[in-house]
Amino acid sequence: MLLLPFELFAVLLPGADSEDAFQGTTSYHIIQITSFVNSTWAKNQGSGWLDDLQIHSWDSDSGTAIFLKPWSKGNLSDEEVAELNILFGDYIFRFIGQIQAHASASQMEYPFEIQGIAGCELRSGGSIVSFLRGALGGLDFLSFVNDTCVPSPEGGTRAQQACILIMKFRGLIVTGKKLLFETCPRFLLSVLDAGKAELQRQVKPEAWLSSGPSPGPGRLLLVCHVSGFYPKPVWVMWMRGEQEQPGTQHSDLQPNADWTWYLRATLDVAAGEAAGLSCRVKHSSLEGQDIVLHWRQPISFASIFVAILVPSFILLLGLALWRMRRRPCSHSFPSFYLYPVT
Ligand SMILES: *[C@@H]1O[C@H](CO)[C@@H](O)[C@H](O)[C@H]1NC(C)=O
Ligand SMILES: *[C@@H]1O[C@H](CO)[C@@H](O)[C@H](O)[C@H]1NC(C)=O
Ligand SMILES: *[C@@H]1O[C@H](CO)[C@@H](O)[C@H](O)[C@H]1NC(C)=O
Repeated sequence: MLLLPFELFAVLLPGADSEDAFQGTTSYHIIQITSFVNSTWAKNQGSGWLDDLQIHSWDSDSGTAIFLKPWSKGNLSDEEVAELNILFGDYIFRFIGQIQAHASASQMEYPFEIQGIAGCELRSGGSIVSFLRGALGGLDFLSFVNDTCVPSPEGGTRAQQACILIMKFRGLIVTGKKLLFETCPRFLLSVLDAGKAELQRQVKPEAWLSSGPSPGPGRLLLVCHVSGFYPKPVWVMWMRGEQEQPGTQHSDLQPNADWTWYLRATLDVAAGEAAGLSCRVKHSSLEGQDIVLHWRQPISFASIFVAILVPSFILLLGLALWRMRRRPCSHSFPSFYLYPVT
C-alpha cells in the first residue's frame, strides 16, 4: 500500500498581486520514482521542480536534499531543511518497507515501478492548489481530492484497497496535510521570490535553417531551429510574406542543459515552392523585433563542384606544374657546391 505523506487541498491566499511578477512559473512539485527490482532491492529517485525546471535532487545515500540553485532553499531555515531531510528519508525508508511487505499479498510481480507527484500551484487570482497523485507501472493509480484518497479506475481493486489502507494512517495524513497545506504554498512563494532574477530573465533565441530528410520525390523538408531562449513561450512559423503556412509542424519543446529551450518548426513543400518562404520567430526577449530567416536554396552538389572542386583542382594542377618546373633548377646547383674543392 502507499504511504505518501501528502494530501490534497486548496488554500486561498489573500491579496494576489503576484501574477505578473511570476511570468508563468507557478508551481512547485516533488517527483518520486521508486523501482522495486526484487523482494529485497529497491531504488528511489527524488527531485524537486518549479514547473519544468529542476531545483532539487535527492541524495539517497546520505538521505539529504541537494539544492541545485543558490536560491532553491527559498526562505526555509537550516533547521527546517534538516527536519525535512529527516522526514523524507524516514518516509522513503518506510514507504519501501511497506510496499515490499505488502507486495506478495497484493500479487505484485517484480520488477515494478511506483511514481508519485506532489506539490502546489499558484492559480490566477492568487489561490494555491495542492495536489498529490500516484502511478503504478506508468498508469494512474490514485490521487487525493481535498483530503480523501481516490482510487483511479486504471488501478482496479488494488488501488481501492490501497486507498482504504492509506486513510487509516492518520498520523501520516496529518503530516502530509501540513506539508502540502502549509509548507508547500509558503515555500512556493518564497522560492519564486528568491529565484526571481533567474526565473524572470529573458534570453534571446538563436535561429537557423536546414533541410531535413526529403519527405518524397520532388519535395523538401524545411527545418527552422530555434534554440537557447527563456522563458518557454515562443511562436515559430513558416511564412510566405505575411502569410502563415498552416502546414508548419512543431517539435516538442526540449530543454537545453542551461535552463533554456529548443524548438524545431518544419514545413514539407514541393521543391519548386521553397523560394520565398521564411521562418519567423516571436519571443518576449526580442521585444517585438521578430527574427525572420529567408529560405535560400541549399547549394547543390553541382554548384559545390563548380565553386570549390574545380578551382582547387586548377590550383593543384598549377602548383604541380610550378614544382615540376622548379625541380630541375634545384638539381642544377654546380656540383662543387656540394663537394668543396680541395
Ligand atoms: C535483488 O537484486 C539485487 C541487485 O540486482 C541482487 O544483488 C540481489 O541478489 C537480488 N536479491 C534477490 C533475493 O533476488
Ligand atoms: C474540501 O474540504 C473543505 C474543508 O475541509 C470543504 O469545505 C470543501 O467542500 C471540500 N471540497 C471538496 C471538493 O470536497
Ligand atoms: C517565507 O516566505 C513566505 C512567503 O513569502 C512567508 O509567508 C513567510 O512568512 C516567510 N517565512 C519566513 C520565516 O521568513
